[in-house]
Amino acid sequence: MLGEAEKPVDVRHLVEPDRVHRSCYVDQGIFDREIETIYHQSWIYVGHETQVKKPGDYCTTVIGKQPVIMVRGKDKRVHVLYNRCPHRGAMMCSDRQGNAGSAFRCTYHAWQFNFDGSVESIPVMQGYDNTRFDIRDPQFRMRPAARVDSYRGFVFASLVDSGPDLKTFLGGATAAFDDMCDRAPDGEVEIVPTCFRMIQKSNWKIFLENQLDSLHPSVVHESTGRAARVVETDIEKRTGKKPPLSYHYLSAFTMAFDFWDNMLTRGYPYGHCLLSSYMSLRPKDPDTLAYEKIMYQRYGKDRAEEILNGNIHHVLVYPSLSVQSPLQQLRAVRPIAPDRTLTEIWHFRLKGAPEPIYRRALDYYYLVNSPSTMINADDLHNFWKCHEGLRTEGGEWVSFHRNAGQDPVENGVTKSITGMSEQPMRNMFKAWSEYMGGRA
Ligand code: FES
Ligand SMILES: [Fe+2]
Repeated sequence: MLGEAEKPVDVRHLVEPDRVHRSCYVDQGIFDREIETIYHQSWIYVGHETQVKKPGDYCTTVIGKQPVIMVRGKDKRVHVLYNRCPHRGAMMCSDRQGNAGSAFRCTYHAWQFNFDGSVESIPVMQGYDNTRFDIRDPQFRMRPAARVDSYRGFVFASLVDSGPDLKTFLGGATAAFDDMCDRAPDGEVEIVPTCFRMIQKSNWKIFLENQLDSLHPSVVHESTGRAARVVETDIEKRTGKKPPLSYHYLSAFTMAFDFWDNMLTRGYPYGHCLLSSYMSLRPKDPDTLAYEKIMYQRYGKDRAEEILNGNIHHVLVYPSLSVQSPLQQLRAVRPIAPDRTLTEIWHFRLKGAPEPIYRRALDYYYLVNSPSTMINADDLHNFWKCHEGLRTEGGEWVSFHRNAGQDPVENGVTKSITGMSEQPMRNMFKAWSEYMGGRA
């Protein structure tokens, strides 16, 4: 018999080309169905390979509602396993990260498992003769995710063995990882192994929609941007020098609507979206010039210039990631309930780049993406207000009408006609309804 979450949900009447019904955000049945059909079936970001460098290194997270462990095997491969002991079901790893030594050892009855999930040993083997227990039977191993793959060090897993491979799934969204890694003189990034974890009191889709909403910054972040601009101008007047880049991170929010409207967004298959950059990240300070010199040496002038002039601000890898590649930031989305969303806020080092370039990423991490910055606080306040409004009967629909039907589509990629087109939201809901309708 089908459980409530498995029953087909007819979403045809909930998603229209230019508006969606509020129940998409607040209904428990819809949320349960999203977890089953989107989070448990598509490729979900698990972590970065540099979180598990040595055999036995592991970290824990969730794919949808399923707790998983990412672990480095003795075979050097990264494995993703359900975080459950096959004996009586105990969680295998209760820490966020650590090293398991030579094998996973369950704390309850000491069954041990190799890092690919196979049984390593069971300490008391008496009593199993003439039972259905068979140590070679897969049901007695830790279950692996159906598929695990990585792109430039970013590890994804899927809990089903059907659907597109990772590269096909990512499509144009690979730009996020290429842009981030190519900015490293060594062509790779390394994760900073702790993150901020933040629970948003709102639906997970509200967060993703906001990431590429270029209409909101001039409204929501205007006061922070203005305050930063005042200080930035004052420093410049007093010292005669350009203030550090970190002021620009905030003062950039003072740009007028026209500026944002000239930006570009792209909508890719499977709901991924891209927003072009709005900040200049090439000041002429000695640190930046030293970094650019290294980039020239490693890549040659033409290629280095191409990389350094990369024009990406944000890429959404639907449904689980928001990536800001030029500043080496990434936010992973872990829905908990219709009105509760955990985000993990990570940042990275560019391998081979001088330390001050890392400090730029760290500044952005603290000033814009951390839970304590005014930028994030202003966003969160609006997410919560949206969710509270959508719970009410004050209206049934959410409007995505701006430039609806006007954005040109070429080879399956939608190009926004203006920067403030609500194309990214429509693109995500197109994918959403395909998943929910079982066609993705
Ligand atoms: S529950 Fe893990 S060994 Fe018994
Ligand atoms: Fe914002």
